[in-house]
Amino acid sequence: MLEEWLLLAHVTGAAVLFGTGAGIAFFMVMAHRTRDPALIAHVAGTVVIADTVFTATSAILQPVTGYLLARMIGWDLSEGWIALSLLLYVITGLFWLPVVWIQIRLRDLARAAAASASALPPAYFSLYRVWFAFGFPAFLAVIGILWLMLTKPSIPYFNIGQRLATRSAAMVMLNHFSRTGSESHSLSAEPKPAQVETLGTLTTAKARPTMSTLTR
Ligand code: HEM
Repeated sequence: MLEEWLLLAHVTGAAVLFGTGAGIAFFMVMAHRTRDPALIAHVAGTVVIADTVFTATSAILQPVTGYLLARMIGWDLSEGWIALSLLLYVITGLFWLPVVWIQIRLRDLARAAAASASALPPAYFSLYRVWFAFGFPAFLAVIGILWLMLTKPSIPYFNIGQRLATRSAAMVMLNHFSRTGSESHSLSAEPKPAQVETLGTLTTAKARPTMSTLTR
C-alpha cells in the first residue's frame, strides 16, 4: 500500500517537474516575443515564484520518493537505468540552476527598463539567449529520465553494481543467488531481491511484471 502511495507521489512529482518546466518555458517565450518590458517583468516575476514553489519542491522530493521506491521494490541504485537516470538528473540540475538565476536577472532587467520607460538593454537579450539554449539539454535530459523510468531497460554498461560484482567473488555469489532469470533474454531490467536474510536464504521483493517476465 505504501509503495502505491510512494509511486503516486513520485509520478505526480514527475508531472509537476515536467509540466512546470514546459509551462514556464512557453510563457517566458511568449512574453519575450512582445518585447514589452512591463509584461516581461510581470511574467518573469511569476515564473520565478512558480519555479520556487513547484519546480524546486518537486526537484528535491523526486530523488527522495525515487530512493524510497527503489528500496521498497528492491532496485539497486547502481542498476543501469537508475544510474543513468541519476546522471541525467545531475545534468538537468546543472542546466536548471543557472536558468533560475537568469530568470531572476531577466525579471530585474525588465523591471528596470519598465520603470525608466526605456527599451530592454542588450544584457537582457544576451541572457535570454543563454536561458533559451540551456532549456534544451535540461528538457531532453528529463525526457530521457522519463523514458528510462517507464521502460527500465537493461543497460549493462551503466550497471555499475554488476560491473563491480564481476571483480568480487563474494558479490558474484550474491549476484548469482539473486538473479531470477537469464539476463541475455531480458528486454528490461528486473528488480533484485530486497534482502538476504541468512546465507542462501532470500526474501524476494515484490516482483513487478516486466517485458521479459510477461513474454516468458
Ligand atoms: C532522481 C532520482 C530518481 C530515482 C532514484 C527514481 C527511482 C524510481 C523507481 C525505483 C521507480 C519505480 C520503478 C518500478 O516500478 O519498478 C520509479 C518510477 C518512476 N519514475 Fe523515477 N526516480 C527518480 C527520478 C525521476 C524523475 C526525475 C522522473 C521524471 C521527471 C521520474 C519518473 C518516474 C516515473 C514516471 C515512474 C513510473 C514508472 C512506472 O511505474 O512504470 N523519476 N522511479
